[in-house]
Amino acid sequence: TVLIQRHMKKSRRWGKAMSILKEFEEKCATPTWKLKQVADAMTVEMHAGLASEGGSKLKMLISFVHNLPTGNEEGLFYALDLGGTNFRVLRMQLGGKDGGIISREFTEVSIPPNLMVGTSTALFDYIAAELAKFVNEESQDFQVPPGRKRELGFTFSFPVMQTSIASGNLIKWTKGFNIDDAVGQDVVAELSKAIERQGLDMHITALVNDTVGTLAGGRYTNKDVMAAVILGTGTNAAYVENAQAIPKWHGPLPKSGEMVINMEWGNFLSSHLPLTEYDNALDAESLNPGEQIFEKIISGMYLGEIVRRVLCKMAEEAFFFGETVPQKLKVPFILRTPDMSAMHHDTSADLNVVESKLKNIFEISNTSLVVRKAIVELCNIVATRGARLSAAGILGILKKLGKDTVSDGEGNKNVIAMDGGLYEHYTEYRKCLENTLKELVGEDLSDSIVVEHSNDGSGTGAALLAASQSHYLDG
Ligand code: GLC
Repeated sequence: TVLIQRHMKKSRRWGKAMSILKEFEEKCATPTWKLKQVADAMTVEMHAGLASEGGSKLKMLISFVHNLPTGNEEGLFYALDLGGTNFRVLRMQLGGKDGGIISREFTEVSIPPNLMVGTSTALFDYIAAELAKFVNEESQDFQVPPGRKRELGFTFSFPVMQTSIASGNLIKWTKGFNIDDAVGQDVVAELSKAIERQGLDMHITALVNDTVGTLAGGRYTNKDVMAAVILGTGTNAAYVENAQAIPKWHGPLPKSGEMVINMEWGNFLSSHLPLTEYDNALDAESLNPGEQIFEKIISGMYLGEIVRRVLCKMAEEAFFFGETVPQKLKVPFILRTPDMSAMHHDTSADLNVVESKLKNIFEISNTSLVVRKAIVELCNIVATRGARLSAAGILGILKKLGKDTVSDGEGNKNVIAMDGGLYEHYTEYRKCLENTLKELVGEDLSDSIVVEHSNDGSGTGAALLAASQSHYLDG
């Protein structure tokens, strides 16, 4: 009888764990009709954000970019790309018409975590010092003509209220950065001062969001690129808007008739979003409660953490990992999305990868195969929701531009340039996103709407925009 009792207890616990998982799955559901509601809500918020400053949670920031690269850009340009846990510095020699990119070198440096929550001066001094090191390695072959300053495009991937193409004030931090004294400041002025402190002779001629950089980088190689989406630590999108469709823009109408808009879609919020108790708790305990809700269910910084939270509940309420709750399971953000992805992609019959991740990350061993299978399923639920919602976001942009239905019949392509570690490395996520987009736009359009990987387009794009500044004077 002891054995029977033990068995019954075990199966009761398993049943409870499975019901927690099932309930989570139901709350995360994203049937097509729901995604269409999300897309419609996105379109509505886009209109509201363009109508007036503060008109929507979607900030729809004006980028001051109204000419995208043409291919005529020429000369030596630098870019600095700051926005995640790493930053990049790059140098590009552009060959002008038909010359293309002659050379492109870069270096990547990780940002010490303490600098992400320290002071503005400490962060910018660190970056400028790395930039100076890189500049000093400039080769004899590629240098700016004597008498000219080096020019830099600055990709700064946080919400910025731009005041010109080369200035703008930080609205707020996202993605785990939290440096109070920088909020409200002109980030170009901050970086320029730090560059001067390094004794470096360099001029920042463009300030762009990573989405805007990716759009510019994508356009350089493909003229059909009309939007860019980043799926990385955070998530966001930018697209080319008709300048006359921006009521809040009171400046002169650009000659091109266009303006690139940085949506800051990570902050999108709608009652149609499938939010769960885990998402609410994650948000409440985050550095920015109430903010970036779309980002918190879609992007790389948070997916692993959502999985951890569900596992924690299963351990606490259904003894999913035995009598006690593994201590490590209680540590926020200990499960990073790349590890979640590795578990999700485990194709071995006995789920070895899941086993070793559980051991290395949570110090959990001796799990049964069904437990490991349930964990893979959990990863799938979280990734699927994120990927499908990002596809819905893209549909929202297409709708806003009236490109979600066949109308021109000219076989024009609408290309969306994509970048970010999540998109690049999380195969299941990417596949799901691409399939969902097809499902949403339907057969007729699925060939004309193309998602294109724009490898490090954001840095390249910033250098290109720095290079095309002369065009802005007349454009
Ligand atoms: C966050 C930032 C946004 C950026 C995105 C992707 O959402 O607020 O500016 O584009 O992350 O890096």
